[in-house]
Amino acid sequence: MTQVDVLLGLQWGDEGKGKIVDVLSPQYDLIARFQGGPNAGHTLEFDGKKFVLNTIPSGIFNEKTMNLIGNGVVIDPIILKRELDNLKAAGHDPIAKGKLVIARKAHLILPTHQLLDAANEQRMGKDKIGSTLKGIGPTYMDKTGRNGLRVGDTTLPDFKERYNKLVEKHKEILSHYEFEYDLTEKEAAFFEAIEFIKSIPHVDSEHYVNGFLKEGKKVLAEGAQGTLLDIDFGSYPFVTSSNTTTAGACTGLGIAPNRIGNVYGIFKAYCTRVGGGPFPTELDDEVGENLRQVGHEFGATTGRARRCGWIDIPALKYAIMLNGVTELIMMKADVLDGFDTIYACTHYEHNGETIDYMPYDIISVKPTPVLKAIAGWKTDVTKINKVEEIPANLAAYIAFLEKELEVPVKYLSVGPDRVQTLELI
Ligand code: GDP
Ligand code: IMO
Ligand code: MG
Repeated sequence: MTQVDVLLGLQWGDEGKGKIVDVLSPQYDLIARFQGGPNAGHTLEFDGKKFVLNTIPSGIFNEKTMNLIGNGVVIDPIILKRELDNLKAAGHDPIAKGKLVIARKAHLILPTHQLLDAANEQRMGKDKIGSTLKGIGPTYMDKTGRNGLRVGDTTLPDFKERYNKLVEKHKEILSHYEFEYDLTEKEAAFFEAIEFIKSIPHVDSEHYVNGFLKEGKKVLAEGAQGTLLDIDFGSYPFVTSSNTTTAGACTGLGIAPNRIGNVYGIFKAYCTRVGGGPFPTELDDEVGENLRQVGHEFGATTGRARRCGWIDIPALKYAIMLNGVTELIMMKADVLDGFDTIYACTHYEHNGETIDYMPYDIISVKPTPVLKAIAGWKTDVTKINKVEEIPANLAAYIAFLEKELEVPVKYLSVGPDRVQTLELI
C-alpha cells in the first residue's frame, strides 16, 4: 500500500497552498481536501491566467488527477456550484471530465449558518474573530452537536423536512439577536444548487481514499487555513473551527495515522494573518505596509488587507512539531527582494522571560519578538530557474531557517506562477 502525503500551512493561512498543490499534482493520482470550507481561497496562476478555488481541490487543472472533497470539509452548495460554473466558463469542466467527487459525509452549510455567523460576529463587536462569514463555525457546531445535514442526505426523500427542522432551530436562535434578515433569495439559490450537487458523484471518502492506496496510487491531502488557526492548537479563540493539522487529514478523509507519508509544511518567507487575534511579529508600520503592497497581501476570498510581519520561528517550530513536517516549502521569497535587511523572530520575551516556544497566553500578555537581522539579497529573483542562480544571501537565509527548524526546504517559490518554483533537493 502507498501512503498519503499531506500539504498544509504552517502559519495563519494564505501561505500559497493552492499554487504548490497545483505544481505537485502531476505527481499524484488523487488530490483530497480534508477540512475547512469556502473560508479558504487558494490561488493558482499559469499561462497568464489566475484562478481562486474555495472548495474544489487545487489538482483540478491537472488532466490525469482525480479530486475529492473529503468528509471533513463543510460545503456551501451555492459557492461550490458557482466555482464549477466559473471553471466551466473558463474551459475547465471537471464534471464533464469526471474529475471531481464529493464525500457523502461532508456537512452542508445552510444559508442560516451564514446568518448565525454574521449575527454572532455583530454581537461580539470589537472582540469579533474576523470570520470570513461563510458560516463555517455554526456548521461545525451543528456537526459536533449532531444536528447537521450531510451531502448524502440530499438524496433522501425527507431532505426538505430535515432542512426545515434545522432552519427552525436556527431561526429560534436568531430571534435572540438583534439581527435583520431575509432568507427568500438565498433559500431559492440553495435548493437550485442542491439539485446540481446531486449530479456530482458522491463517494464514501474513507473507502475511496483507501481504495487508491490499495491499488498503489498516490494521494496528496490538501489542507486549508493554517496550523495557527487550528481549533485545538491555534491562537484560540481567534481560530477556525476545524483541525487544520495533519491529524485533520486522518479524520477528514478516513485514513489511519500510519498511512501518512510525507508532510509538506508550507510557509511564507515572512508572515501574514487576516482577521482578529494575536500576531507577535506584526509590523504596524511602513515596513508592514511595504510587505502588504509588494506581496499583494489582500484576501483571496474576502479582499481584506492582510496583516504583515516578520517570520516567526517559535511559531514555525510549534507547527512543525504538531504536524510531523518532513519537508518545508518556502513561498514568496521575491517579496523580500527589495529589503536591505530582513528580520527573523528567534525568541519571545514573555512575562519577563526569554522563551523559544509559543506560550499558552499570547493574548493578555503579548510576547515581544526577539529579532535577528539578516542581510537582504537585493536581487530580482522572480526569473531565476536554477538553484545555482539563488543569490548568496537568500541561500544563507534558507540555510539559517533549515538549521533552526531542523527540516530541509524542498521547494522555493519566487513568484505566483506555476513556473516560478525551484526544487532545491
Ligand atoms: P493559499 O490560501 O495558501 O492557497 O494562499 P492564497 O492563494 O490565499 O495566497 C497566496 C497569494 O500569494 C496568492 O495571491 C498567490 O498567487 C501568491 N503567491 C503564491 N506564491 C507566490 C510567490 O512565491 N511569490 C509571490 N509574489 N506571490 C505568490
Ligand atoms: P486559506 O485556506 C487565512 C481566518 C479568518 C478569521 C478566522 C476564522 O485560504 O489559507 P472562519 O471564516 O473560519 O470563521 O474565520 O480564520 N481564516 C483564514 N485566514 N486563510 C484562510 O484560508 C482562512 N480561513 C479562515 O480570517 O480570522
Ligand atoms: Mg488563501
